[in-house]
Amino acid sequence: MKHSPMPPSLMTALLMAATFVATIANANEPAKAPYRGDPVKGKEIAATVCAACHNPDGNSTQAANPKLAGQHAEYLVKQMKEFKAAESKQPVRVNAVMNGMIAAYNEDQMRDLAAWFGAQTLLGEKARNRDTIEAGQKLYRAGNMAKGLPACAACHGPAGAGIPAQYPRIGGQFAEYIEAQLKAFRDESRANDPNKMMRMVAIKMTDAEIKAVSDYIAGLR
Ligand code: HEC
Ligand code: HEC
Repeated sequence: MKHSPMPPSLMTALLMAATFVATIANANEPAKAPYRGDPVKGKEIAATVCAACHNPDGNSTQAANPKLAGQHAEYLVKQMKEFKAAESKQPVRVNAVMNGMIAAYNEDQMRDLAAWFGAQTLLGEKARNRDTIEAGQKLYRAGNMAKGLPACAACHGPAGAGIPAQYPRIGGQFAEYIEAQLKAFRDESRANDPNKMMRMVAIKMTDAEIKAVSDYIAGLR
């Protein structure tokens, strides 16, 4: 017996039915919530590996190593994932030290680490330069309308606490680290900010403005 070819309209109807059934099957599966991370497991890795630079509780004491204590966990996970290079690719966030440090960990372990560091209390820095504090505060709170520089407070909050999950806490961070990140966003050596949000800010800033606002943020709570 010869097979007659299926009419295209029937073919389409069958495909639609199959898709419909597949959709229902998916809807019946319980939604998988993302793993939240176990701070006890995170603490273990933190104490043995990360502590050398970030201290066991994430309150780093050297300005080159950012403080992680009290940072939003989702932001920390994003940074760790972006430091980790996918197979034979450049990592999204390039830093020789961290690209190496994070290579051994999978996403669940990153969530453990983020749960630990995020739950610690930040011991913040302080502003050091009296001469620039007013200019720094003005930039932070109001930006600079004349050149279209938005206020940092709009995204990082009036006290620098950030807004989870996208906008990191920056208040109390080392001025030197903030300055280095702003310059990295400005020259695009750091380019992992969604929608170029930070690159569009930093490109409008002079060195003097970056210094002033960074010192102010170190003392911000
Ligand atoms: C040898 C020193 C060193 C060790 C050990 C180290 N880090 Fe880092 N970490 C750094 C430096 C330096 C930076 C800043 C990188 C930059 O300037 O972009 C950093 C940045 C980070 C950031 C980004 C913070 C931010 O505010 O964006 C995270 C997250 C982080 N480290 C997590 C970890 C974790 C987790 C471990 C342990 C598994 C670890 N680090 C071990 C030196 C270190
Ligand atoms: C339109 C929103 C927006 C504005 C305005 C903004 N930021 Fe950001 N900023 C972000 C986002 C989003 C990130 C996180 C980028 C990422 O995911 O890596 C960020 C990250 C940063 C970081 C890196 C933090 C870290 O731990 O590495 C610094 C420093 C920073 N911003 C400083 C500033 C300063 C100073 C200003 C004002 C001059 C400012 N930001 C204005 C959205 C903004």
